[in-house]
Formats: sequence, structure tokens, C-alpha cells
Amino acid sequence: MKTNRYRLIAVIFTLFLMICIASGCEQKSNNGELVNSPEGSLASSTNQLQKPKDERIKIGFSMDTLEEERWLRDRRMFINAVKELGADVKVMEANGNEALQISQAERLISEGVDVLVVVPYNAEAAAAIVNKAHSAGIKVISYDRLIKNAEVDLYISFDNEKVGELQAKMISELVPKGKYVYIGGADTDNNAHLIKKGVYKVLQPLIDKGEIKVVFDQWTTNWIPSNAFNNMEAALKANDNDIDAVIAANDATAEEAIKALAAQGLAGKIPVAGQDAELAAAQRIVEGTQTMTVYKPLQSLTLEAAKVAVRLAKGEKVQTNSKVNNGKIEVPSILLPPIAVDRANIDATIIADGFHLKEDVYRKGKNE
Ligand code: BGC
Repeated sequence: MKTNRYRLIAVIFTLFLMICIASGCEQKSNNGELVNSPEGSLASSTNQLQKPKDERIKIGFSMDTLEEERWLRDRRMFINAVKELGADVKVMEANGNEALQISQAERLISEGVDVLVVVPYNAEAAAAIVNKAHSAGIKVISYDRLIKNAEVDLYISFDNEKVGELQAKMISELVPKGKYVYIGGADTDNNAHLIKKGVYKVLQPLIDKGEIKVVFDQWTTNWIPSNAFNNMEAALKANDNDIDAVIAANDATAEEAIKALAAQGLAGKIPVAGQDAELAAAQRIVEGTQTMTVYKPLQSLTLEAAKVAVRLAKGEKVQTNSKVNNGKIEVPSILLPPIAVDRANIDATIIADGFHLKEDVYRKGKNE
């Protein structure tokens, strides 16, 4: 009799346990949400080792730097876009440090992110990140900048060669003959090479005709603006200030080139091109010291990147529109179109898009 009762209790207990497991009634320690850490990066409140199988998708975003204005926007918009898609994201920034970026990526991998999105500091060195992620079965998206010589799963960016073409086209229309200075980006960044390729695609025929002469052409080590200032100063000195146009790889380097021109009383007298549509560049364009910038609508980039990251995490197919060779493979790529912006179309582009507010761009008399 007693044995039967014990048997009955044991059966009921086992049944309860089975129903419980099937319905997931065990207490979850948290919901897998990611929270802001004091350093400004996102940190996980989840104990990764105990994560339940049905947990939300988690994307790791490894960024090189937040130095230029654009990267803060990329960061904020990417986080929002991923959250909108019902996934979580953890961001780490490497402050322009190659070794730090690799160790941060390793951390994201060991924490079990589903997909790793990387803005590489060094195009070549970041190949190690791809290999490590792949060993852990994690796919890698190269964001804005291409990772070279690795089996990158997807590359998403703007058409960077086109960025250079747009710069050179607009400046060469204004200055069809004369002496040009080229202030390049960081040699370690594949974008810097693509932009330069685009610039020369437009300038080369004019150089061949003897109409344009590039009298100075240097990289800006690590994209550090003060290096661009030194380069521009050297260019002016070597040519006794006799130059006619400047093409700079981004707005931060254009700003320094303009400072060097200003020191010689030449700001506003020599056309200067940049890229990124930074607020300060937009202000310089309406005020007349910078001729143009290249606007890359980051809203589209971040949204697309978030969508493809989530799709890859789910093992779904992703539509691409291009292939870019990274030295090892033809990387399936999504390339978005950049837009040339000057005084004439600034209202219809970056202001109309809400990228910058009109009152901020036309800061009448508030500056310098
Ligand atoms: C980006 C630019 C940026 C530069 C410096 C490039 O790879 O495409 O938008 O200004 O890096 O961070």
C-alpha cells in the first residue's frame, strides 16, 4: 500500500517536472537584455554561459574609433536599428589600437555573439578577427571598411571609389588646370586606397594631357588630423604657396588643410574637397572655406547592416549588389551610393534629410 503511494507521488512529480521543462517554467535569471556600461559601451547583463537556447539574437559591433563625428552616429543608429529588429547589440571601441581591437573581438566571440560586425582599424590585421570568429562558428560582416585577405562573409559600405570620383569631378570642373594637393587617408584603411583610386580615375586623363599636376600626395597616418595639417603645410612650403586645389580624404583632414591654408591667408581662395558631411564641414561650405563634401546617408548604412546582421544570425540568405575582392576572396557586398554636396545642393541633401539642422549649418556669424 505504502509503496504504491510512493510510486504515485514519484509519477506525479516526474510528470510535473516534464510539463515544467516543456513549458520553460524554470526561472530565468534575466531576459538577455543588454545595458549601458559606464565606459559608454554596451555590456551584457546576461551570464552568457547560462543563456537559454531561445535567447534573443546578439550582435557584436567592434569599432575602430569614435574619433570622427560620423562614428558616433553609426554607433547610435546601429544600436537603435538592431533593437528595432528585436535583437541585442554589444559595442566595443578600440581607440585606434589594432591589438586592442583584436582582444575586444575575442571577448565578443567568447561571450557568444551570433554575428560579429567589424569596422577594422587595420584592414590586414583584422583578418585575425575573421579567422577567430569562424573557428567559433560566428559569421563576420565588414562594416564601412573592408577587411583584407580573409574570408569575410559580407561587406557593407558606401561605394568608396565613387567618393573619390565625386570629389575629383567637382574640383576638376572648378579647376580644370593647375597644381593639385592630395591629402590621403590612412594607408592602413582600404577605404583610403579606394578613395584615392576614384580621385585618380578622374584626374589621370587631365594629368596625361598636362592640364593638372599633382604636386603633393601623401597618406595621413592613422587618419590623425594633425598629420594632415603637417602634410598641407609641407605642400604649401614645397610649392611656395603656389597651389590651385586640394582634395582631402575626409572632412577632418580637410579641416586641417584649411587651417594650414588660413595660416597663409589662402582659406576660401583655393577649392578644397572632403567627405563625411560633418557639421563643421557643412558650415565651412556655406561660409565658403570648403568647396564640397561627400554625404553618405548613415541611416541607410546602419539600417541595412542591422538587417543583414540579424538575417545572417538566423542563417537566412542576404541580398547583395556587388562583389569586392579583398585579396583572398570576392566578398559578397552591399555598396550604397554616396552623394556630392556643395553650396548649391546642401539644403536639398543633408538638411532635407535631417542629417543636420538648417540653423546649425547656417550658424550666422557665431563661429571663429
Ligand atoms: C570612413 C570615413 C572616415 C574615415 C576616418 C573611413 O574609412 O569611410 O567616413 O572619415 O574612415 O575615420
